[in-house]
Amino acid sequence: MTPRRSRGRRLVLATAAAVVVVLAGCSEVKNNGQNSLQPKGPQAQKIDDLFTPILVLAIIIGIAIMIATVWLAVKFRYRPGKNENPKQIHGNTRLEIGWTILPALLLAIVAVPTVATIFDLAQNPGPSALQVSVEGKQWWWQFSYPEEKVVTADELVIPTGRDVFVKLNACDGTGAAKTCNVIHSFWVPELSGKKDVVPGQTNTLTLSADKPGTYLGQCAEYCGLSHANMRFRVIAKTPADYQQWIAEQKQGPVNPLYEPDGTTPAGPTQQLIVKTFQCTNCHIFDDSSKATYGPNLTHLASRTVFASGSYPLTKQNLTRWVRDAPSMIPMSSQGCRLPPGKGICVGMPSFINNTPPGLQSMTPQQADQIADFLLEQK
Ligand code: CUA
Repeated sequence: MTPRRSRGRRLVLATAAAVVVVLAGCSEVKNNGQNSLQPKGPQAQKIDDLFTPILVLAIIIGIAIMIATVWLAVKFRYRPGKNENPKQIHGNTRLEIGWTILPALLLAIVAVPTVATIFDLAQNPGPSALQVSVEGKQWWWQFSYPEEKVVTADELVIPTGRDVFVKLNACDGTGAAKTCNVIHSFWVPELSGKKDVVPGQTNTLTLSADKPGTYLGQCAEYCGLSHANMRFRVIAKTPADYQQWIAEQKQGPVNPLYEPDGTTPAGPTQQLIVKTFQCTNCHIFDDSSKATYGPNLTHLASRTVFASGSYPLTKQNLTRWVRDAPSMIPMSSQGCRLPPGKGICVGMPSFINNTPPGLQSMTPQQADQIADFLLEQK
């Protein structure tokens, strides 16, 4: 074998190996729960119906151009003894018009269905749709159902077969109580397209799921330390199951936080939550209709995950989280236990590290006690 041949064979082998490695990645993509090529609702289907034909068209044109390039390079290659200049075609009007019109035509073919789909997806689905307000926070998602007066986090529960009209906000509250967050992006690849969540502006998006199931969502815009942990789930239930869920969410807490006087903590755990560790500065434990700085925890135990979908809701995970959340996901929470207005608080504080002077650290027993209390809040 000549050296040149063996080099050629090595190149072929290397290319084949690269193709195998790339294709092996595809088998993993099949069921990762975030595959936009496997639409599970009408909006995602419309996007896929646009994507597939354009992809096929692009592949055909791409292959045609590659074949033409190789063919021309071979056909007009340098040959010993035939060393003349190629025919000069500068100023050929017919060719120039041709290669201007053809790409313009191709772009038009792509643009017409694309623009039509954009307008179609942007349409307000009307009053029959379920209205949901989504607030992007650092780093979790709050879901509010304004008509039902229910506020929840991490899991967006929807009924199957019904459009859900999502209003996306990076600010919440009004007047002096209004706080704004950074830019996030809301994306559930199997149910709909991606939409930015921008402070000072309300963007909207419609999604729906054909079948009951869990669909994985993800923040798709870099938003700080825990951007990659800013996940969520869309849980689609049958309309009857959804009605039951919403009825349960509207109920009061299993364990009340206060005595009937409204100020005295109703027990020793409530004392820890309200007085010792002041969890109530950021969280609401006894009213599922209100939103505040941190996730509403009135019905925390009805969820399957917490910490923005980063951890399954188990006793072990929750106990660790309550005591030292920053050890589980990156957060800049140093100022979170200081009085309001002192220090910048982003995320759950640690109750064992960086404890401000005069404040108590949390013992494992106290964390255990608070986790038990929370896991009863179904
Ligand atoms: Cu929120 Cu990235």
